[in-house]
Amino acid sequence: MDFKAKMLRDDALKGKNIVVTGGGSGLGLSMTRYFLELGASVVITSRNLEKLQKAAAELEEETGGKCVPLQCDVRHYEEVEKMLEQAHASLGEIHVLLNNAAGNFISPTERLSSNAFDTIIDIVLKGTKNCTLALGKYWIDKKQSERTVLNIVTTYAWTGSAYVVPSATAKAGVLAMTRSLAVEWAKYGIRFNAIAPGPFPTKGAWDRLLPGDLKEKFDLAKKVPLKRVGDHQELANLAAYLVSDFSHYLNGEVITIDGGEWLKGAGQFNLLEMVPEEMWDMLEMMIKSKKQS
Ligand code: HXC
Ligand code: NAP
Repeated sequence: MDFKAKMLRDDALKGKNIVVTGGGSGLGLSMTRYFLELGASVVITSRNLEKLQKAAAELEEETGGKCVPLQCDVRHYEEVEKMLEQAHASLGEIHVLLNNAAGNFISPTERLSSNAFDTIIDIVLKGTKNCTLALGKYWIDKKQSERTVLNIVTTYAWTGSAYVVPSATAKAGVLAMTRSLAVEWAKYGIRFNAIAPGPFPTKGAWDRLLPGDLKEKFDLAKKVPLKRVGDHQELANLAAYLVSDFSHYLNGEVITIDGGEWLKGAGQFNLLEMVPEEMWDMLEMMIKSKKQS
């Protein structure tokens, strides 16, 4: 099975104009590349314009599609409104918003300053709110329907996680926003879904979550029942499906793509996989003997 193969048919996103926050690096870049290959035009936006310009030029060369780099710090509503104005001027109507931008780092919570906690909440939760509210109000005002918002969360949005508490708090809020607006704005023809990725190696995440030799100490693949990390194309395949018309009846869903990682941590007896095969005869005997007593 080639899990790195491209899934959707050619032109599956033809005519779609998409805004991808944090589209100049990591998973945002990989999803943008595939959207362009499928015929979409894409605005990529983040704080670093130089990085975005380089990425957009390379992606246009690679795919032949149209990719517009626009600077915007999603923490600031006025910047988001300005970015959307420029996006409309460059591409015309926007059909899809992909809230992918994020900030995160590991830290014991008691070491965080109030500003450190706020910084993550502001990028992840407030940033998603800013883009969703600004574009959503525009769509509703202009009576533009058949629109889609896709939010990138994490599996700890519902389990919580120690040492990344601001991120877990913010992603939980994004998930609640996804489900709430999926119902409230369905009447305007706006769908909301989310993806919860497991470990997909990117420089941005790995440098902040596994700094120094933590990369070697904590091999994230070992936490995954399928014993590997994700490939970017697998995530891009799912994202392309969710922003395409093929997923028209999917609304308010969060799709986990993690090889079973979070469930492995959750199931009370999952640790028993450490019991060697040859011990099971003995264990079975011990258990059955208890039945008679
Ligand atoms: C404690 C820290 C810190 C750290 C920053 N701060 N890093 N505190 N430990 N390691 C504090 C600072 O001291 C400051 O507080 C406040 O946080 C803001 O820091 P700045 O550097 O001024 O912020 P800024 O320049 O806005 O940068 C934001 C950032 C940075 C989040 C800190 O890392 C960034 O730009 N990240 C963007 C990309 C990213 O994080 N990608 C990873 C996404 S991964 P004071 O009080 O001193 O002013 C992800 C995956 C999850 O989400 C799941 C994986 C499996
Ligand atoms: P990444 O490359 O660091 O992506 C984060 C992006 O967000 C960057 O392009 C960054 O660009 C942008 N960004 C940060 N702050 C911003 C701000 N204030 N305004 C606008 N843009 C901002 O990391 P990634 O791994 O690809 O993460 C992408 C998404 O996947 C995130 O939502 C993350 O939580 C999620 N995720 C990743 C993993 C994983 O294993 N990689 C797992 C679960 C979830 P600038 O620095 O140029 O602003």
